[in-house]
Amino acid sequence: MRYCALQELQPAMVLGRAIYGFRGDLLLARGKELDHYFISRLGELGFPGVYVEEAGFEEVDPPEIIDGSLRASTEVLLDECLETLTKIAPSSQQFSGSLSESLNSHPELKKAIPIGKVRNTVKQIVQELLDQFATQLPCLLLKAQSRYQVQHAMDSMLVATLLGINFRFIYRELHQLALATLLHDVGKTALATENEPNIGPDHPKYKEHPTVGGLLVLHSGDDFYTECAAIQQHHEKQDGSGFPYGLKSEGKSPVKGRAYSTGSIYRLAEIVSVADMYDVLTSGTYQPPLSPEQAIEQLINRTPSEFNPHVVKMLASVIQILPVGCQVRIKKSSDSHLRYSRGVISKVNPNSPHKADLILTHDP
Ligand SMILES: [Fe+2]
Ligand SMILES: [Fe+2]
Repeated sequence: MRYCALQELQPAMVLGRAIYGFRGDLLLARGKELDHYFISRLGELGFPGVYVEEAGFEEVDPPEIIDGSLRASTEVLLDECLETLTKIAPSSQQFSGSLSESLNSHPELKKAIPIGKVRNTVKQIVQELLDQFATQLPCLLLKAQSRYQVQHAMDSMLVATLLGINFRFIYRELHQLALATLLHDVGKTALATENEPNIGPDHPKYKEHPTVGGLLVLHSGDDFYTECAAIQQHHEKQDGSGFPYGLKSEGKSPVKGRAYSTGSIYRLAEIVSVADMYDVLTSGTYQPPLSPEQAIEQLINRTPSEFNPHVVKMLASVIQILPVGCQVRIKKSSDSHLRYSRGVISKVNPNSPHKADLILTHDP
């Protein structure tokens, strides 16, 4: 199979991967032949493209980073959690006073996140990544814009956890990092109102979402201080120009043992921040989507002012910039005959995220 962008989809093409909708329900099964109606529905749901089966690409099998059913059940759990928050979160005005007071006067908010269930799911995902010896992200993070919030949380968590594994974090820290990343934007849902369901960067309350989200997680169980700090600081920038606290960082490696100093960004937050921004840039929510390579380039350009250079450097070795199933055009090659050829990535090189096997499709 190969990846096909939405605008290139044609009737009679055959779907290579099943498409799931809200609550993990199956929308289109693998093997389904597309027609004009299905193609326009995919566009309405906000899919940038899909995998299609095609003669000549039978051997191309884009790997999934975790089992599809585990992904689906995690997304359902998060969907339920956000839905509960939407129902019971008080209006944003009530959050504008003291946040702790809001939580005390609305004790039901402390139970909005089923933290025990979330923690168990996160542990399963971390274990699956460790069992597979996963150290790289070999696939595109395809998401439907209609399900952006949940899928952004999920995909950012996978990227952050892979970073944590590469930094050789211990189990406990991997669980903390994964949970914090999965819930890093719950504050947006808590601040949303019926009139303003989306808290984007232009919303006056946007800069409060890290603080609110962190507090919600902190109060949803015992001993979630680490996760709370990582959530509350995921929009801080290395040079102090971030929010909500304007914390700074010396840009040291976030490896275990780095001492915490007052007024500086917590090391797990630096990882959440990079994973979050990588997913934002590649998903095309606020701007046209960037390729994995373009997103990494942009993150590199934004170090050391915004992001921790050690984390971005690690990201560059974690992300497979030539994902299996994607089309590429050769700009430079030691073999001049290959220049300007196009092809589909058929296999990645586990030893180098920048090398891959290619099936040539267009030879000038
Ligand atoms: Fe955020
Ligand atoms: Fe985010």
